[in-house]
Amino acid sequence: MNVVILAAGLGKRMHSDLPKVLHRLAGRPLLAHVVDTARSLKPGVICIVYGHGGERVRETIAQPDLVWARQEPQLGTGHALAQALPHLDPKVPTLVLYGDVPLTRAETLTTLCRAAGKGVALLTLELDDPYGYGRIVRSRGAVRRIVEEKDATKAERALREINTGIMVLPTARLKQWLASLQNKNAQKEYYLTDVVAAAVADRVPVKSAAPGAAWEILGVNSKTQLAELERAFQRGVAAALMHGGVTLADPARIDVRGRLVCGRDVAIDVNCVFEGEVVLGAGVSVGANCVLRNVKVAAGTRIEPFCHLDEADIGARCRIGPYARLRPGAKLAEEVHIGNFVEVKASQIAARSKANHLAYIGDTTVGRDVNIGAGTITCNYDGANKHRTIIEDEVFIGSDTQLVAPVRVGKGATLGAGTTLTKDAPEGALTISRAKQVTIPAWKRPVKEK
Ligand code: UD1
Ligand code: CA
Repeated sequence: MNVVILAAGLGKRMHSDLPKVLHRLAGRPLLAHVVDTARSLKPGVICIVYGHGGERVRETIAQPDLVWARQEPQLGTGHALAQALPHLDPKVPTLVLYGDVPLTRAETLTTLCRAAGKGVALLTLELDDPYGYGRIVRSRGAVRRIVEEKDATKAERALREINTGIMVLPTARLKQWLASLQNKNAQKEYYLTDVVAAAVADRVPVKSAAPGAAWEILGVNSKTQLAELERAFQRGVAAALMHGGVTLADPARIDVRGRLVCGRDVAIDVNCVFEGEVVLGAGVSVGANCVLRNVKVAAGTRIEPFCHLDEADIGARCRIGPYARLRPGAKLAEEVHIGNFVEVKASQIAARSKANHLAYIGDTTVGRDVNIGAGTITCNYDGANKHRTIIEDEVFIGSDTQLVAPVRVGKGATLGAGTTLTKDAPEGALTISRAKQVTIPAWKRPVKEK
């Protein structure tokens, strides 16, 4: 089949410079969700009708096989579909989707296509409050036409079955039907919905199907609706996680903006955000208020509250945080402890090493069983270039030490507290750079002059 995604509309009510279909749901543009759903149906062509936001929309959604049709000016949904027509295969049906309706499930669309057969099928739904939508007008049970809210009579406005806008159409007929559209209506637009009456006149069967849930057909016209759909999406993610055995302290307080894969007995406390690809091994627990982005955490590791973990690879049975920051390229082996206000970047830390308080470890290789004292800083940047620090196995680094890279600390070495290390420290020995402590017994504090 062909899929056409209508995405040329303005989105005035978003009050934003960003084109409506580029606003994000679960971290991705609305239109990207629709494209994903379309793709899952394996259509021959996906054509996006764009207009408002023009090139910015194309650049953001850049995927090589998409076909783009520009609609300028925007004269209505019928006019929009007409712009796509030259790109469509007339031998297969066309499914029309909206770029601002992000959560329609593929199963629903498959059902709709089956209902259409060689004719027309409309995705419709009974709403308690149908205000604003086109209404499905039937006689003796059969669909006759669609009337827009603004053009409807009082009796028609009382109809509760609405047009979601999503429909399947026989492509070969479209050219003629779209050419026959007129804009003699309240909005002076070429309505796609008028093809339904044309189909009925041509004795083409018009069927309908309903979505499984109302949120599947909801569009985004305002920030309020965007937030509502975000919650609907996240409720679904949370339900799936719990179904798979994950313990969520509160399913209403988790945000997954990407893919979260969990092993057995994973527990996640409130207000955590997962972005990109996150993998949590068996028995991992994540404390409250953590942000994890493209992170792998091996089995049995505990992430304490308030951690920010970005492109890190964390081994088994580690203890991270509270208040830890792991930046891209942080790779921790098993049983590593990273404590509060410790930042690790582009560094490998081997088994059982600890940095429990207030440290910066950047561009560093840390061996196993190393203890890094509070306030330790690897000075990896000289203002122009980055350099590496190497800390071998079983090293003990006293508090408030600076390691001026490039520098190496040999196996089993000890650095005294307060050391500014500018040359390699030999293995097994104590290295210390510190002014000698003196006491001046007769010294008097200055007193205020009168
Ligand atoms: C449309 C339907 C209405 C349905 C409702 C569902 C028509 C005439 N009406 O109304 O029956 O109940 O959707 O939300 O089709 N678009 C373009 N180019 C245009 C106009 C619109 O690409 O010239 C796109 C928009 O970006 C949007 C979609 O088409 O994705 C629907 O447009 P919108 O203005 O929201 O349609 P409604 O008037 O709400
Ligand atoms: Ca709309």
